[in-house]
Amino acid sequence: MEEKKLRSQEWFGRKGKDGFIYRAWMKNQGFPHHLFEGRPVIGICNTYSELTPCNAHFRDLAEALKRGIWEAGGFPLEFPVMSLGECSIKPTAMLFRNLASMDVEESIRANPMDGVVLMCGCDKTTPSLVMGAASVNLPTIVVSGGPMLAGRFKGRKIGTSDLWRFAEEFKKGELSQEDFTAAEAAMARSQGHCAPMGTASTMAAMVESLGLALPDNATIPAADSRRKVLAHMSGIRIVEMVKEDLKMSDILTRKSFENAIMVNAALGGSTNFILHLLAIAGRMGIELNIDDFDKFSSHVPLIANVQPSGENFVEDLFYAGGLPAVMKEIASLLHLDTKTANGKNLSENILNAECWDRNLIGTLEKPFKPESGIAVLKGNLCPEGAVLKPSAATPSLLTHRGQAVVFEDIDDYKKRLDDPDLDVTPDSVLVLKNVGPRGYPGMPEVGNMQLPMKIIQQGVKDMVRISDGRMSGTGYGTVVLHVSPESAVGGNLALVENGDWIVLDVPNRSLNLEVSEEELEKRRSNFKPLNLGYERGYVNMFIQNVTQAHEGVDFDFLKGASGPEVKRDSH
Ligand code: FES
Ligand code: MG
Repeated sequence: MEEKKLRSQEWFGRKGKDGFIYRAWMKNQGFPHHLFEGRPVIGICNTYSELTPCNAHFRDLAEALKRGIWEAGGFPLEFPVMSLGECSIKPTAMLFRNLASMDVEESIRANPMDGVVLMCGCDKTTPSLVMGAASVNLPTIVVSGGPMLAGRFKGRKIGTSDLWRFAEEFKKGELSQEDFTAAEAAMARSQGHCAPMGTASTMAAMVESLGLALPDNATIPAADSRRKVLAHMSGIRIVEMVKEDLKMSDILTRKSFENAIMVNAALGGSTNFILHLLAIAGRMGIELNIDDFDKFSSHVPLIANVQPSGENFVEDLFYAGGLPAVMKEIASLLHLDTKTANGKNLSENILNAECWDRNLIGTLEKPFKPESGIAVLKGNLCPEGAVLKPSAATPSLLTHRGQAVVFEDIDDYKKRLDDPDLDVTPDSVLVLKNVGPRGYPGMPEVGNMQLPMKIIQQGVKDMVRISDGRMSGTGYGTVVLHVSPESAVGGNLALVENGDWIVLDVPNRSLNLEVSEEELEKRRSNFKPLNLGYERGYVNMFIQNVTQAHEGVDFDFLKGASGPEVKRDSH
């Protein structure tokens, strides 16, 4: 087989003035001339940022990666891209996922590189990098930062989900200010992203099950030296992938997407997975729709006993055998012939996987919960779909008829939720409008609304809640999310009024408003779109171009790929 000319040689391999320009300034970093003479150049797309604490160890991790790249005869060049820290970014990191993906796509295409390593960690840093890279389609491997070690507080293991418990105890005066502050430091005590199977670990598992990362990428703790070994080995591997010309499109096939959906169900992964996987499929030109998430996940039980659907942390899952051991348990459901980044197919990767702890990894015969995955609902309240995570819901509420208590937007909700005069009973259905992609904007994680104080005081723990927003990967409850079309564009959610009867029927996958079409039509004629007051800039562009939840919330104009070609030189 004749070796393909390296893409980077279009820059570094040039003669005369052009080659001089492409190399000379690079040499100010102390690179000797021979590095430019035909080594695979590997771009390291790094989301290191002190404002993204989950990725703050990435400088160090990049060094391990580079050692692997050098060892294999490659030439590593690291570059920064926009990094999205889930906890600090207002109004929500999701508003900037597409922007970051544009940064990634253009940075890769415009620069001399033959292969890419995506360094991903905190929630949005994975989908934004994978989406951007997919639109270029070079040989690409993902190295995730790894989960934090579980926190320890007062003799107990803690993680992100405990934050809600601490906040409640503090509010009730059961936890002192000193203890509350000490809990902060105890929860996030090590490098890495959130310790439960929240969105970050869901994304790390997604790339592993898709085949874009080496086995065990999803679960090795960030602080474990084996995370650096994985980075080193990924560095070696990306150089080989360039030589093999193993591109993203050779790995990402319809079958690998179906695998990812099934694996996510076995893990009880985040609902955010839906939006990100749809967006990635859109970039790859692979047909995937929201109904596929139900179709391929509804028969998969919960295999991993990890929070929030189970009890433990991702760290524990690694010690029990990691994702390969989970995938082995559902091997009879998966497509085993899909190709992965290490050049092997999925069956070879999971062949020797072993489970070391049956408290962590169940079997198809003895799962932790019979129903996992994602239920996709349809009906006049959500003609294009809405989603619910049965493993996080209260079984008795999965079929429910109740009257709507409507909040027009997030401000209205915050103002009236704890009002003693709020007309609400435990059977009511809480409806929150205008928290969708355009309505907020950016579709924040507010869908798992707190219950009204009045209801909490009755000892009630869960109610049916419906919105066009998202929920944190660590959230739970009988929460209908991602209602599409959203209220801000005049979806029927916008037409719900206080007292309307709503029928949720998860076994039959339906969500309906018991209001006649005539009455809805009357209300529709009075609908006025929101004016959010973003007249310029990125947010205005977002509102103009973002697609609905059932389409992945990508920009319409970013769908598809442009490949790695650049038509013009820079001088
Ligand atoms: Fe970064 Fe949870 S805040 S992963
Ligand atoms: Mg999150």
